[in-house]
Amino acid sequence: MKQLYPHSPTLPLIGKMDIQHNILLIGGRRAEDLVAEFGSPLYVYDAAVIRARFRELREAITYPNVDLHYACKANTNLAILRLLHAEGAYIDAVSPGEVFLALTAGFSPEHVLFTGNNVTDEEMEYVLDRGILVNVDSLSQLDRYGRLAPDSRVSLRINPDVGSGHHDHCITGGPDSKFGIVIEDVDQARQIIAGHRLQVVGLHAHVGSGILEAEPFLQAADALLDVVRRFEGLEFVDFGGGLGVPYRPDEPRLAVRALGARVSERFHAFCHDYGRPLTLKLEPGRYVVCEAGMLLTRCNSIKATRTHTFVGTDSGFNHLIRHPLYLSYHEIINASNVEDERFVYDVCGNICESADFFARGRLMSRVREGDVLAILNAGAYGFCMSSNYNSRPRPAEVLVDGGTARVIRARETLEDLLRGQGEF
Ligand SMILES: Cc1ncc(COP(=O)(O)O)c(C=O)c1O
Repeated sequence: MKQLYPHSPTLPLIGKMDIQHNILLIGGRRAEDLVAEFGSPLYVYDAAVIRARFRELREAITYPNVDLHYACKANTNLAILRLLHAEGAYIDAVSPGEVFLALTAGFSPEHVLFTGNNVTDEEMEYVLDRGILVNVDSLSQLDRYGRLAPDSRVSLRINPDVGSGHHDHCITGGPDSKFGIVIEDVDQARQIIAGHRLQVVGLHAHVGSGILEAEPFLQAADALLDVVRRFEGLEFVDFGGGLGVPYRPDEPRLAVRALGARVSERFHAFCHDYGRPLTLKLEPGRYVVCEAGMLLTRCNSIKATRTHTFVGTDSGFNHLIRHPLYLSYHEIINASNVEDERFVYDVCGNICESADFFARGRLMSRVREGDVLAILNAGAYGFCMSSNYNSRPRPAEVLVDGGTARVIRARETLEDLLRGQGEF
């Protein structure tokens, strides 16, 4: 059996993707067989990769008192939530829907932190009624929260005036960000807190997504810790998520061990000065699930023009929107013909929009109609950002674990398109 990308420092995904007779295997299963059994297009996740990534992060943090809140916006499939629950993860939830899914998956309310944006009173009530801690995002929300739940515990999201991310759309800190309470407003926040006799138990910052270097995290951590010094009696500091993964074969891997050690050392020293051992929280989403997932899609038509060869597939940006949204690179493997003469292709979907591409000008092993393509790194912000645009049902999701594949979300049918409108 051959390994993909023998020379790449970053791929394959912990050795779980292999080639046998020029056919791609995922977690020991042939991609083509998975499509034959479960249909195309198909999201496939490798449970071993999710566990390995989660454990890697846990081991990277040497500070003893750590909670890893999986940012479930990255992938809210119930089976994946349950898998991470079994690993000892906690949850970062941003909406009542995510709270509902987390509780349904078995997470206890005290292991969920709710960090919404532009949250309504009704949403806060939903979260409060379930005994979940609210991480407040603005002065307005703080005041409304205080009126709803005076004398209660609360956490504050701070904008530490640092932002970073793989694309402008993914920067969530700094002067242009809509998230968090800016540092200049912290005194005003303290007045609101005193007015409602709230107890601030934690401070939080999340500065962006897809970060591949340690520096932005450390800068944001230092800025947040400066704010933490102004609050007595805290229980935790939450440095958010944002840890990136390489999407391109030549992209460097984030040095997670080194980052974990540096954050841990800083935090240890900080707690010594602060006078009590606080809990360190992190909220990784992408890092845990991204590399575990791929979208399998069948090429159904090839169109060669004077300037392009379009590889047309049975999926589209309704199923994986990251290329049109962020111009994100996703490695694509011809799972039916992994190594052959290579050609330049534009890999596109079946959606009636000219932005409907998974890749443009991509050098790939020869593609024939009927081949199954594997679009890698689709485990995070893939299915959860999908839609029914063009009235196309969403794909099924399958989890491969210990060589066994099982459906963890059924493929939508045309009848699903009628849901909620049948009686009108
Ligand atoms: C508050 C918060 N925490 C954590 C995350 C997870 O980010 P990532 O998937 O990049 O780790 C996000 C993502 O937007 C977020 O908004």
